[in-house]
Amino acid sequence: MSAQNQREQWGSKIGFILAAAGSAIGLGNIWKFPYVAGENGGAAFVLIYLICTALIGLPVLIGEILIGRSTSKDPVGAFKSLSGSKFWASVGGMGVIAGFIILSFYAVVAGWSLGYIYEAVTGKFHAFPEPSQAANHFGDLIGNVYWIVGYFALFMIITMFVVVAGVQKGIERGSKIMMPILFALIIILVIRGVTLEGAEAGIAFLLKPDWSLITGKSILEALGQSFFTLSMGMGAMLTYGSYMSKKDNIPTSAVNIVILDTSIALLAGLAIFSSVFATGLDPTAGPGLIFHTLPVVFTKMPGGYIFSIVFFILLSIAALTSAISLLEVITAYFVDEKNWSRKKAVMVFGGITFLIGIPSALSFNVLSNFSIFGLSFFDFADYITSNIMLPLGGLLISVFIAYRWGFGNALANLRNGAENLIDNYPVLVTIWKISVKYLSPVLIFLVFLYSIGIFN
Ligand code: PHE
Repeated sequence: MSAQNQREQWGSKIGFILAAAGSAIGLGNIWKFPYVAGENGGAAFVLIYLICTALIGLPVLIGEILIGRSTSKDPVGAFKSLSGSKFWASVGGMGVIAGFIILSFYAVVAGWSLGYIYEAVTGKFHAFPEPSQAANHFGDLIGNVYWIVGYFALFMIITMFVVVAGVQKGIERGSKIMMPILFALIIILVIRGVTLEGAEAGIAFLLKPDWSLITGKSILEALGQSFFTLSMGMGAMLTYGSYMSKKDNIPTSAVNIVILDTSIALLAGLAIFSSVFATGLDPTAGPGLIFHTLPVVFTKMPGGYIFSIVFFILLSIAALTSAISLLEVITAYFVDEKNWSRKKAVMVFGGITFLIGIPSALSFNVLSNFSIFGLSFFDFADYITSNIMLPLGGLLISVFIAYRWGFGNALANLRNGAENLIDNYPVLVTIWKISVKYLSPVLIFLVFLYSIGIFN
């Protein structure tokens, strides 16, 4: 192995946790979670989402990180070395491809967030104080090819800049700087939101369960959200796990990641709904909640100018630390398997991701009439990854651990760094076993059937 390809490790335990939490916390928490919870019964949905995360999300996350740490390899190399089989290597390959596709549309939305920092700083929101005006303004921006492709390119360049610097000097250092800022910014926004007059209605909306809105569909929606938000099923957590030391405790780290990710989703929901209700706007605006409704909310609240800047910086940081993990999966694959230099892998695949993302960016303007299976290019990329590739990846990870690698082998590896926990609390091992052997495969299979439309 040449010095250039010497594999890096995280510099510290907290470095791994912050980087992995950075991957998990993203548009899924701040943009998607609040509106999905809002549409699916508020607290009732949140409760089901928490149960799904505890019973399936956490066990599969532990398994995915473990596969990475046990092999110190990228997803393809990891599955190959544990099984020696082409089929399982191709499961890793599917993850690498999924990462690529997710990044290509994720970075488009992240670009909007960067663009909205500029809108906020230049005080544009005050020029469009009515919800319909704000929605039209958003439509005009994403309808502009130069605006959408320009900010997309800018976001990709920033992402590449961090990844090219390497695991410790890029990803870990970036996460250590950005994650504390993210936590501070969200606390500021929550305090602002809940202290507004009339905020109680928003808090109640998020915390009071409406069981009548819970259907089979929303239960499965909760599980899907749990996957996307924990960055599971495509090898991002596997790759981050591969830079972990064998002495680190995986179960405890995974619990920390889940707690951080879930708290940020709940806090984002609290900040957004308390502000939306206090200003008398529509909480069920769906995916447009952040880009049409929130700017109007900011024009109506005291200090809204500052808080609008804070919000879009927060959103951009969250998206950036997730995008970094997506680009790292492809980079790790070319560095580990093809012996490329990190720089070459980042340049080539950052560039290709940008090219693949262009049709997604153009879905909102020149290609708006073009569709694949009735979906725009953007929605298609989102659909095949979030609804098909991630659940399938998660399902295969639990099947791999339980039935191919073998639960005993997995447990023996998991014990490294977690001896006390595993020896003193055998009940936790039993829960993990039941989850990876039965609960996760069966329930994920149901999500999968749901997402390909079997139950519709
Ligand atoms: N977890 C990220 C979010 O919530 C999205 C993501 C999915 C990142 C898969 C990496 C891998 O925004």
